[in-house]
Amino acid sequence: MSEKREISRRTFLNYALMGTGGFLAAGMITPMIRFAVDPLLKASSGSDKVAVGSIDEFGPEPKRVDFKVHTKDGWYESDSTLAAWVTKNENGEITALSPICKHLGCTVDWNTNPSFPNEYFCPCHGGRYTITGQHIIGTPPTKSLDLYETEVKDGKLYLGKIKPNPLPGVTG
Ligand code: FES
Repeated sequence: MSEKREISRRTFLNYALMGTGGFLAAGMITPMIRFAVDPLLKASSGSDKVAVGSIDEFGPEPKRVDFKVHTKDGWYESDSTLAAWVTKNENGEITALSPICKHLGCTVDWNTNPSFPNEYFCPCHGGRYTITGQHIIGTPPTKSLDLYETEVKDGKLYLGKIKPNPLPGVTG
C-alpha cells in the first residue's frame, strides 16, 4: 500500500521563500567575502626594489640617496622616505648602508666629525662606523650598519630590502 505524502500550500511557500532567500544571500555575501580577502591573495606586483640613480653617479666616496617606497600590507598602503649611503669600490662592487645608527636609531652622517675623518659618525652619542659600516669597538653601537639589497639593471642602481650587516666590529 503506497503512502501518499502531500505538501501543504504553506509548506511549499516556506520552501520556496527559503530557497529564494538563500540564493539572494549567497549573491550578496560572495562578493563581500571576495572583497575582504582579495588583497591578501594578490601576489605582489613586480619588483620590490627602487631605482635610486645611475650607477655612474657612485664612486669610492659615500653618497647619500633619498628615495620613496610604497608599501602595501593587506588593505593598508603607505609611502615612506628612506635614505642610504652608497659607495662603489674600484672593483665596481656596490655597498648601500642604512644611515640608522645601531645604538638607538639616530641618523649617521659621513665624514662630519673632524676628529674622526672618513668615518660615519652618529651625533647622538658618538657612535662611529667605518666606510663599510663596521661599528668601531669602544663606541656605543654594538652592531654594524644594516645593508640594503642591491641590483644593477640597465645602468641603474636599485635598492631593496634591508638586511643585517655580517661584518664584525673593528677597533678604531
Ligand atoms: S644613537 Fe647613535 S650612538 Fe647612540
